[in-house]
Amino acid sequence: MKITFLGHATLLLEVAGKSILVDPFISGNPKNTNIVDKDSLIPDYILVTHAHQDHVLDVEDIAKRTNAIIVSNYEIAMYYENKGLKVHPMNHGGSWSFDFGTLKYVNAIHTSTFEDGSNGGLPGGFVVTTKDKSIYIAGDTALTMDMKLIPMFTTLDLAILPIGDNFTMGVEDAIIASDFIDCNTILGYHFNTFGYIEIDKELAKKKFKAAGKQLHLLPISASLTV
Ligand code: NI
Ligand code: MN
Repeated sequence: MKITFLGHATLLLEVAGKSILVDPFISGNPKNTNIVDKDSLIPDYILVTHAHQDHVLDVEDIAKRTNAIIVSNYEIAMYYENKGLKVHPMNHGGSWSFDFGTLKYVNAIHTSTFEDGSNGGLPGGFVVTTKDKSIYIAGDTALTMDMKLIPMFTTLDLAILPIGDNFTMGVEDAIIASDFIDCNTILGYHFNTFGYIEIDKELAKKKFKAAGKQLHLLPISASLTV
């Protein structure tokens, strides 16, 4: 599985010939200085962890153009279905087998209201399991004991965790999360996009290293493969 960082909390997964976009916030990202063009993306699926603007800004536009299936919690799925878009609703603890692998919608501690005040259900994360790999996309979340459930049903090859603090876990809590999920290879996201979530990248990497873990931080449009 190839994972490309598209800035902030936006990811592109490529697996089994399918393209899966996660939490598209591209056109409004102040750090995306013409690096990624949202109009060049042709996803088969768009996964949405929660309804905040820095995760859904480009969902509607990309889904309209590409006919991609939006996968999210029930309330977010209905919000987009009512706009005539294709959706697959899920909810916490549920799994579904798609043509690229299995998704499980797992708990996140955060909030989830759309910019227009519409109900965005409860926030979540995704465990993506393909033929031979498994990754966890935490979404925006606090450190939570529920993370300990994940290694009970899968062995993770990579976890994508927020590390920007203030709205989500910071670096210290993400290191504890890495223990909870039993995965020492972490891709950090949700940092340095705007003022509240600025971190020292080198210090973050050092802290993970001191805990016996590896923190990957990718420039926008760079990839890693598991
Ligand atoms: Ni959020
Ligand atoms: Mn966010």
